[in-house]
Amino acid sequence: MSRPSVRADIALRKGYHSPQVVVDVRLNTNEAPVAPPPGFTEALHSVLDNINWHRYPDRAASALRSKLAERYERTPAEVFVANGSNEVLQTIMLTFGGAGRTAATFEPTYALHSHISKTTGTSVVEGDRRDDFTLDLDEVRRVVDEHAPDVLFLCSPNNPTGLVDPPNTVEAVLKIMEGTNGLLVVDEAYGQFAHSSAVPLIGEDVPLVVSRTFSKTWSMAAARLGYLLGPAWLVAELDKVVLPYHLDAFKQAAGLAALDFGEAMDERVASIVEERGRLIEALGDLPVTTWDSGANYFLFRADAMGGDELWQALVDKSVLVRNCASWPRLDDCLRVTIGTPAENDALVAALREILVH
Ligand SMILES: Cc1ncc(COP(=O)(O)O)c(C=O)c1O
Repeated sequence: MSRPSVRADIALRKGYHSPQVVVDVRLNTNEAPVAPPPGFTEALHSVLDNINWHRYPDRAASALRSKLAERYERTPAEVFVANGSNEVLQTIMLTFGGAGRTAATFEPTYALHSHISKTTGTSVVEGDRRDDFTLDLDEVRRVVDEHAPDVLFLCSPNNPTGLVDPPNTVEAVLKIMEGTNGLLVVDEAYGQFAHSSAVPLIGEDVPLVVSRTFSKTWSMAAARLGYLLGPAWLVAELDKVVLPYHLDAFKQAAGLAALDFGEAMDERVASIVEERGRLIEALGDLPVTTWDSGANYFLFRADAMGGDELWQALVDKSVLVRNCASWPRLDDCLRVTIGTPAENDALVAALREILVH
């Protein structure tokens, strides 16, 4: 039997992989180190009882959008929700990308921006960040002048470098894009861990959207829930593209319930930020280079050991971090998610044993 032919550009691709290795200390996927507050899980039990399981969910996810809008002092029409922020990004690309269209990324950055773009048939142009991973506005101007991208991605804090693009940088990029009809997407999956955000720049006449997620700060990676804030007219276009009833009733209710625990979440974010400072400081007397971060992870590199070798040595000590050693522009780098204090101590102890003889 012959196999139906896969789209040639898909057949050539490798797919997105993040190894799931069984270890004691998992610091590789930027999840929250602890489960949601107990009150949240209790609230979910009553949610279960109140769902009309034989009916389709509210297609517009109105209650969830309203509550998110309240949190950001926006209108519900300026909020789009989907199954994780990756689906938000995919919906953007289905709406603004496609054959004959172009997306721009500034590398190194989150691999899914180009992955999703390519999957939707969008051409990708890669600009470079500076050697210190900051955004180079001259390079942005070059890419915009040469390619007039339909979608330009920024990621702030950037994954995997942890660097934040401050609002004046985002404003400068918007200025460079003026007159191109391009859309600026700022991926703020880790926005709550940073000191600044592009959200205040959103406006009905500004070609800017900001995507966020419940996966990280809200300890809800398992739920797959993300959202976008942007102009109401643009959200209406995204709503045309997404599948009918894409967000199931339980997830909508879980998101609503989570938003009742805003204060607990803010406290958790504060303690992760504190722990991030402690961990980076603890690595200060080890032979490694670390990068400052506005996220719940940071990048580091051993001064005298290859990244692959160090990654394996850590796995041998049952500590899993993300191996970025062979990623373009990230020679020998590893990325570590901030864990619980005990997990972070285990990482420091393992690094000390490996690197200090
Ligand atoms: C920068 C960035 N954006 C988006 C996502 C996707 O998050 P989710 O689909 O879980 O909301 C991730 C996940 O790791 C990420 O690192």
